[in-house]
Amino acid sequence: MITCAPEQVQHLPLPPLPLPASGATRRRLLAVGVIGPGRVGTALLEQLRAAQPRLLRTLGLDLRLCGVVASKRMWLDCDDAELNSRHGGAQIWRPNDLDAFAAHVRGNDGRHALLIDCSASDEVASHYSRWLAAGLHVVTPNKLAGSGPLDRWQAIRAACAEGARFRCEATVCAGLPVVQTLRDLLDTGDELLAAEGMFSGTLAWLCNRHDGQLPFSALVREAHALGYTEPDPRDDLSGLDVARKLVILAREAGWPLSLEEVDLQSLVPAPMAALSREAFFERLDELDAPMAAALTAAREAGGVLRHVAKLDREGRASVRLQVLPASHPFAHTRLTDNVVQFRTRRYCDNPLLVQGPGAGPEVTAAGVFADLLRIAESLAVHA
Ligand SMILES: NC(=O)c1ccc[n+]([C@@H]2O[C@H](COP(=O)([O-])OP(=O)(O)OC[C@H]3O[C@@H](n4cnc5c(N)ncnc54)[C@H](OP(=O)(O)O)[C@@H]3O)[C@@H](O)[C@H]2O)c1
Repeated sequence: MITCAPEQVQHLPLPPLPLPASGATRRRLLAVGVIGPGRVGTALLEQLRAAQPRLLRTLGLDLRLCGVVASKRMWLDCDDAELNSRHGGAQIWRPNDLDAFAAHVRGNDGRHALLIDCSASDEVASHYSRWLAAGLHVVTPNKLAGSGPLDRWQAIRAACAEGARFRCEATVCAGLPVVQTLRDLLDTGDELLAAEGMFSGTLAWLCNRHDGQLPFSALVREAHALGYTEPDPRDDLSGLDVARKLVILAREAGWPLSLEEVDLQSLVPAPMAALSREAFFERLDELDAPMAAALTAAREAGGVLRHVAKLDREGRASVRLQVLPASHPFAHTRLTDNVVQFRTRRYCDNPLLVQGPGAGPEVTAAGVFADLLRIAESLAVHA
């Protein structure tokens, strides 16, 4: 017989978990170098510095920030100990040299070392496979490796076979657990059938607000003024960034998709693509008629207009405006929310959904940080 405990029973607090030994047996040192101290990189540096004492105390993880490199300059902790301690970090700089930076972080004492690329640089991404082959772990929110040339991506995967790890959670929907969720599904034996999502907060906001009250161009101007768009809104409206995220997800699922294979509908008419930014803004109202027509068509079909990226296991990939039924989960997203829906063998009738804010330096940095911690968890303790 099962009996319920009476409500007034006092719950005794659980005994505290044994703290990890702080001695050498459990302590792991991880040397870290940050590439790209921009918006995300700066937020990450703040998060790392704030978490260092806690991670050492609770996990025995000794994170050592060894250097920072920007596009022109780099700062290494070895440069001047006295200056460094006086200024709370490296203050003197030398010219950017990515390989010298990587060698400095790696050291020559066999320690665990990790590089975090918070740039949007293709040049930096082209170094990953070499760094991984040399035993450095790499974490990044930079989409250019995951969505760039397929042979470069394959070289990165091959380099990981030597033991170093590459993680890129924040490349898709920033801090939302999208890549990790997909990996967990696949690692536990599930099979991806299709993925569908709204991967652009800007386009989600524009679609949510585009109800016919204001012309589409007015909404683009408003989004620009609010800082929701890139400095040049065509970078959002072209859908290219969304296509990159779709390619990253496809490759994570083991499907060798290339960016050129994505059926990409740009919301920027071809003649406006080559204009200067100022001229583009002057002619912005040329977007109004096609967008108004798309809205009318959606309404006549009893649906809503959304900007959707789609992928299936037959290798079809598309990024375009779509009419969705009003009952579709993507019809009810909030403001700039990103959303992704995985249809798998296990989550077949009722797909698995991840939804929430998909941009911003702090949440992106937190996604990068979480990747770092997953790698750190797997590190062996050096005797
Ligand atoms: N911001 C977001 O909400 C968000 C969301 C998801 C993903 N991401 C991705 O995160 C990355 C960073 O975004 P962000 O907004 O922080 O960009 P950002 O503010 O423009 O910062 C980029 C940084 O990269 C550095 N950099 C450029 N080329 C470099 C090179 N060759 N070597 C070393 N450093 C180099 C720049 O150096 P200088 O300072 O010298 O110019 C700058 O510090 C991008 O890949 C972006 O797509 C961003």
